[in-house]
Amino acid sequence: MANLIQPVRGMNDILPDATPRWQQLESVTREVLSGYAYREIRFPIVEKTELFARSIGEVTDIVEKEMYSFEDRNGESLTLRPEGTAGCVRAGLSNGLLYNQVQRVWYAGPMFRHERPQKGRYRQFHQIGVEAFGLAGPDVDAELIVMLARLWKRLGIGRVALQINSLGTLEARSVYREKLVAYLSQHLDQLDEDSKRRLATNPLRVLDSKAPGMNEVIAAAPSLMEHLDDESQRHFEALQALLDAAGVEYRVNPRLVRGLDYYSRTVFEWVTDRLGAQDAVCSGGRYDGLVAQLGGRPTPAVGFAMGVERLIALMEEEDVPMPDSTPQLYMVRVGAAAERAGFLLAERLRDALPGLRLVMDCSGGNFGNQLKRADKSGAMFAVIVGDQEAANGRASIKPLRESGEQQELAWDALVSFIAGQMD
Ligand code: HAM
Repeated sequence: MANLIQPVRGMNDILPDATPRWQQLESVTREVLSGYAYREIRFPIVEKTELFARSIGEVTDIVEKEMYSFEDRNGESLTLRPEGTAGCVRAGLSNGLLYNQVQRVWYAGPMFRHERPQKGRYRQFHQIGVEAFGLAGPDVDAELIVMLARLWKRLGIGRVALQINSLGTLEARSVYREKLVAYLSQHLDQLDEDSKRRLATNPLRVLDSKAPGMNEVIAAAPSLMEHLDDESQRHFEALQALLDAAGVEYRVNPRLVRGLDYYSRTVFEWVTDRLGAQDAVCSGGRYDGLVAQLGGRPTPAVGFAMGVERLIALMEEEDVPMPDSTPQLYMVRVGAAAERAGFLLAERLRDALPGLRLVMDCSGGNFGNQLKRADKSGAMFAVIVGDQEAANGRASIKPLRESGEQQELAWDALVSFIAGQMD
């Protein structure tokens, strides 16, 4: 036999036993999002490399080390999207959706980052992202956050905590950046290699470092919060007031700076203590400068993306009950006439009971073989058609999970009986 081809490292198959959980998360999320009038947008998985370099930032980890970039047959550099915001803004601009308009949109799908795979960190992972364009006030920041609080509740997730911060405007941040660089340069001996490198390229990320031994130097660093411009300060206070009024708990984390360059003002992250090191299940913030940076008119914007694999792991961890996907009926057919009659009866049942989960045995064999498979399927009842029943327009129904007699019924009576059982 030929060698099996291995899957790509860090890219997972999501198997039929796991997909009901994914569908549960996706369908509840869709419902909650539509309650806030967010509409779905779909854009390509591949974009020009330049889009990501210009939006996420040349000196971020993602752009420097993690992108799946390749030359296509025309020699153009393309990249598998490492996140959704850049492509969403590009799609909005390409299609004239952002000019002087409010847009509330969401997207879902795979993202690609060449990170070191570990639990909760993959090279192909999935996000559900949400973006609101054309709204500058703190109320829409708050809307996104309360919407997420509602979503966690609807999903049955309890172990998440919200952290918020404000990065201020780009101008205020560059003043702060200089002060931070001056401070960190005086403490070079306490910085790890990564942070020394970041000092020259992206010093705010040093604050985000989880390296042991750097806590002290980070704690004593000048605080971004004290360098906020007045407008950002007011925006941040108004956001907190709205969250307080809505009863959403949060912690202001002055060290939350995020790994993408496009943020300004509000940033936030929902973290959990149940998943180990990869603890952020949802992150986002405001990016008022990005639309203009990508060639549009200045347009305020704010959004977030959730990590689907991490949320699913958390739902598993918290034993969130799952909707039942085991079949309810198993159709057993033995004999040439019965095969045809059973096939049609199965369709009749599906017509009458649209939510019904019915498996038809197509593997053949005698009653005993098929009933064994019926039992194994987890179905509540087997519907049994033999040639005799087929000739009389009847079928038998046999309870598989509870005791009870097998009974033979005409098709209409059988449909009503099953409808009664499904209530
Ligand atoms: P991000 O923080 O890079 O932000 O990713 C958002 C979420 O995706 C993270 O909180 C995490 O749950 C999940 N995630 C990220 N990388 C991985 C990975 N390698 N494996 C598994 N899950 C991962 C963004 O992508 C921004 N576009 C969010 C945003 C939207 N900001 C404004 N609008």
